[in-house]
Amino acid sequence: MPNKELLLIPGPTPVTDEVYAALARETMAHTDTRLAALFKEALALTGDMFHSEGEVYVVAGSGTLAMEMALTNTVAPGEKLLVVSHGYFGDRFLGVAAALGIQAESLSAPPGVRVSPAAVDAALGDGGFKAVAVTHADTSTGVLADVDTLVPIVKKHGVLFLLDGVCASAAVPEDMSRVYGSPDYRIDLVLTASQKAIGAPPGLAIVTFGPAALKARAALPKVGSYYCDIANWREIMREPSRYFATHPVNMIYAYHAAMKIIEREGLAARYARHAGIGVGMRAALTSYGFSLLTAEGNAAPTLSCFLYPARLEDISFRAALKEKKLIVAGLLGALSGKGFRMGHMGNTREEEFLQAIAVIGETLRDFGLPADIDRARENFLASYYAAQAPARSDTK
Ligand SMILES: Cc1ncc(COP(=O)(O)O)c(C=O)c1O
Repeated sequence: MPNKELLLIPGPTPVTDEVYAALARETMAHTDTRLAALFKEALALTGDMFHSEGEVYVVAGSGTLAMEMALTNTVAPGEKLLVVSHGYFGDRFLGVAAALGIQAESLSAPPGVRVSPAAVDAALGDGGFKAVAVTHADTSTGVLADVDTLVPIVKKHGVLFLLDGVCASAAVPEDMSRVYGSPDYRIDLVLTASQKAIGAPPGLAIVTFGPAALKARAALPKVGSYYCDIANWREIMREPSRYFATHPVNMIYAYHAAMKIIEREGLAARYARHAGIGVGMRAALTSYGFSLLTAEGNAAPTLSCFLYPARLEDISFRAALKEKKLIVAGLLGALSGKGFRMGHMGNTREEEFLQAIAVIGETLRDFGLPADIDRARENFLASYYAAQAPARSDTK
């Protein structure tokens, strides 16, 4: 099914024909050994993507369920969680924690700005935290958390490092085997979902637990959830032909296909492509007069937040783009109406972004604003190729 629209919101992302074909295969029994074989391979590929030495859980649900599964299995009611929030999705951890009876505190910064690592260090120094939750790329602001700086700071305090990769996994390195100075200074858990940079439709919650996170679960006598308790899923993830709850059979086909695409492209090439497209789109659209909510140095490879030049009205501009079959998202909360968010992740390629640049330029002209489409496309390509060289050499 060829996509009829260019869906450049920050997730879900366009689904390729190969993944649609997998999704459309005949539904088999959830305990069929042929499904189990595909599921096992998809779990192994997920573990490889995170360089995990721990356990991978893939269950029906969305990213929010993955957040809930992560906290349920690592932090007990009454224990303390520190949230490093760069926007709406960082703040969501506070809601999940409140529902689970976890005492959460939050550090935040103005939209587009990173929380200072010194503030994280100071908050943890006050003691008593079980875990820190960090959103890798916050989908509301486009801020990419500085994981490499934060992991050693958090781990120095003997606290679990939980990473929300919903808007980053498969586009930005998330290496759970990487040691940050001391052998146990690592990312302890990555949670994610199927619908963004992984390139499958929405429907799967994915959580990868490293050794310290598994130890935290083992130390909890019980947890306050049946579906989210990894103890109920452990045997099923080892042998998916066994039953705990019905697998979303067709989504497992789709997820398997999406993970095979990632394997075929290779992680280094995929990360480099995303890095290039991120800087490329920001270079292209700033040349049209949009400004950036989040400065290039803090910006995620997976999405960008563009602020409107004077005289451009949000609803009518995005509606005009939609008329031309380009779908982007509005800004959230207090920033609503001031700009738009564009997702540039998953299996979307240069050609689609060159097309998006042209559509946006034409639409600006329709609104009476100048737009040099050729120059914007040149800016995209120059930045795209320049950004890929260094990115390739520092990812594995
Ligand atoms: C970074 C981040 N975390 C969590 C979520 C929640 O995921 P879902 O909407 O799939 O429940 C989202 C959704 O966009 C997200 O972007």
